[in-house]
Amino acid sequence: MSVKSCTMDTSMSAYVFVVILSLISTITNAGLSKPSVLFIVVDDLRPALGCYGNSLMVTPNIDNLATKSVLFNNTFVQQALCGPSRTSFLTSRRPDTTHLYDFYSYWRKAAGNFTTLPQHFKQNGYFTQSVGKVFHPGVSSGHTDDFPYSWSVPAYHPPTQAYKMAKVCPGPKGNVYMDIVCPVTVKDQPGGSLPDIQSREFAVNFFKNMSANHSQPFFLAVGFHKPHIPLKYPKEYRDLYPLNKIKLAHHHTFPLRLPLVAWNPWTDLRERDDIKALNLSFPFGPVTKDYQLLMRQSYYAATSYMDSQVGLLLDALHTHGFSNNTIVVLVGDHGWSLGEHQEWSKYSNFEVSVRVPLIIHVPGLTDKHTDITFQYKDPLKQVHVKYRNHSRSNLVQTQREKIDIQKNYFKEYNVIRSKEFSLKKYKVSNDLMELVDLFPTISELAGLPVPSTCPPNPFKIDLCTEGSSAAKLIQSISHTDSSRQSTGLRWKSAVFSQYPRPSVEPQENSDKPHLKDIRIMGYTMRTQQYRYTEWVQFDPATFHMNWSRVYGTELYLRNSDPDEAENMAYFSSYAELRSSLSRVLHEGWRSVLPT
Ligand SMILES: *[C@@H]1O[C@H](CO)[C@@H](O)[C@H](O)[C@H]1NC(C)=O
Ligand SMILES: *[C@@H]1O[C@H](CO)[C@@H](O)[C@H](O)[C@H]1NC(C)=O
Ligand SMILES: *[C@@H]1O[C@H](CO)[C@@H](O)[C@H](O)[C@H]1NC(C)=O
Ligand SMILES: *[C@@H]1O[C@H](CO)[C@@H](O)[C@H](O)[C@H]1NC(C)=O
Ligand SMILES: *[C@@H]1O[C@H](CO)[C@@H](O)[C@H](O)[C@H]1NC(C)=O
Ligand SMILES: *[C@@H]1O[C@H](CO)[C@@H](O)[C@H](O)[C@H]1NC(C)=O
Ligand SMILES: *[C@@H]1O[C@H](CO)[C@@H](O)[C@H](O)[C@H]1NC(C)=O
Ligand SMILES: *[C@@H]1O[C@H](CO)[C@@H](O)[C@H](O)[C@H]1NC(C)=O
Repeated sequence: MSVKSCTMDTSMSAYVFVVILSLISTITNAGLSKPSVLFIVVDDLRPALGCYGNSLMVTPNIDNLATKSVLFNNTFVQQALCGPSRTSFLTSRRPDTTHLYDFYSYWRKAAGNFTTLPQHFKQNGYFTQSVGKVFHPGVSSGHTDDFPYSWSVPAYHPPTQAYKMAKVCPGPKGNVYMDIVCPVTVKDQPGGSLPDIQSREFAVNFFKNMSANHSQPFFLAVGFHKPHIPLKYPKEYRDLYPLNKIKLAHHHTFPLRLPLVAWNPWTDLRERDDIKALNLSFPFGPVTKDYQLLMRQSYYAATSYMDSQVGLLLDALHTHGFSNNTIVVLVGDHGWSLGEHQEWSKYSNFEVSVRVPLIIHVPGLTDKHTDITFQYKDPLKQVHVKYRNHSRSNLVQTQREKIDIQKNYFKEYNVIRSKEFSLKKYKVSNDLMELVDLFPTISELAGLPVPSTCPPNPFKIDLCTEGSSAAKLIQSISHTDSSRQSTGLRWKSAVFSQYPRPSVEPQENSDKPHLKDIRIMGYTMRTQQYRYTEWVQFDPATFHMNWSRVYGTELYLRNSDPDEAENMAYFSSYAELRSSLSRVLHEGWRSVLPT
């Protein structure tokens, strides 16, 4: 396998060299110094965004960023849990190398002294700053968010994040609750603000400070908390998503022939007051239809609220003169089930849990304008004004009339949105990306040394990558005028994720087993056509998986079943396909690198 990756390095080096030269020249032609980096990571964000084709979503600022970027449409995380995912993509190593599947160890002590993405920039002369949730705070990042290794100054955390588990959601009779669904009046909240507003304010001040000093490039990482639960957001964002516009998940029942080990019982939701009050049965639920709609509505509203913070941040990047020399990356740390498969939250190997948005903006490359503007677009002023006026201006007589008026309104609303969609030109890559690819990709785009591919067991090597640089994909897509194209360049043919379980049957800790309790590891692989998963025996003392002891297998035919509703693994007609996918899964990521 290492032979293969060597072959790739040699055969591509000439090409990569040309790419690097031309990237650097793009930037130096513009007469600018090393580009700065704005790295935006959004907690629990699935691709519920207008630019990803979700016409319900009101996310004008991220959509605007996407028009000046390459949008990666098939991007997957290594594990659908915040701490392990972040440690993985910030070190560019997979969970089997970081040895972090829970929240309770620090890779520098538990696995190896691995260099992180921000640390690499810091070591190459950048001023690096962390704002909000970038590393998972606490033990997973040494109780310091990996300061001073990764950051020039200590990480900033918004003070109001202290109320994450507090009873602050208004309910009947003036009482307050610890709910999932939590639209609020911001000025009445403790501290008079919300975490993402505070993070954005801090980051804007950072630009203000740095604008006095253009001599040192920066790497600013901003981690937004929404749409992670609680779905706490300024309540006016709810108006963007009238309830009768919200539908249940396309496939919202228990999948056919799903092995129970794959099931995530969404324990974290059950701890919240509003879910508790529903008296749901463990582990399958299901959540009542009304509450599914309310949770979906609030997830969308929280996403639009987050979009407004992204918009204000990008606007400030421009105002302070950085936008034409700053690479902007926006990524989710993992996805979220919104009732798909009768499930909620992350904690699984389903597509909805492991697929994330990834948008990469490179001035001079993905946007050739010299003056790149990011004017703030208020999500609240995008579409709903018409709705308000329309519904206000009609005196409703009967229920029937009310339905008709809603229908007419929605028609109008849809026309406006879809017209906007068809006018927009996104440069889309459908190549399979994994978040371990971020580190080498961003390094190459900024003209920094690109870490070489890790050999097996790279515990003693500080700087290497278990991903691949996608800089050449970005360059190639940027230079094609047609949007929505794959580049035709050779690229990896499969991507890999994993999720641990303590037991075959779902139990209280199935979502988040501590390392010592892990008995089973679900390894999943996504190709362009299939998702294939094996749940196998795992030993937490030695980190060894036993491919011969299988507790469940899943095969989804994505072309005919994009919802992953029907597990086909147990049909003899698919035995051949299954064994060829199984072979690649066992051989792992090195075996699918382009040759
Ligand atoms: C993005 O991927 C989705 C799901 O895999 C697919 O339905 C959609 O057509 C893709 N979008 C583009 C623009 O290719
Ligand atoms: C880990 O790496 C950092 C930065 O390269 C270095 O300062 C530190 O001494 C290393 N720690 C150990 C235990 O090797
Ligand atoms: C900006 O600079 C001021 C003055 O040096 C300092 O007090 C403040 O903490 C800085 N803020 C940020 C976000 O860097
Ligand atoms: C400006 O940048 C220089 C060089 O990196 C640094 O030494 C100095 O402290 C910076 N000044 C401010 C105000 O950040
Ligand atoms: C849930 O159970 C409690 C106590 O048994 C009961 O008071 C409440 O009405 C139940 N709620 C629902 C929605 O069934
Ligand atoms: C960068 O943008 C500013 C305006 O914000 C413009 O004045 C300047 O010429 C641009 N520089 C380059 C090299 O494009
Ligand atoms: C909608 O109402 C607002 C004030 O309520 C008004 O300013 C705006 O012009 C109205 N828009 C339309 C399209 O009627
Ligand atoms: C792996 O699983 C097989 C089949 O259950 C079993 O015979 C073997 O002993 C296991 N190996 C280890 C190292 O546990």
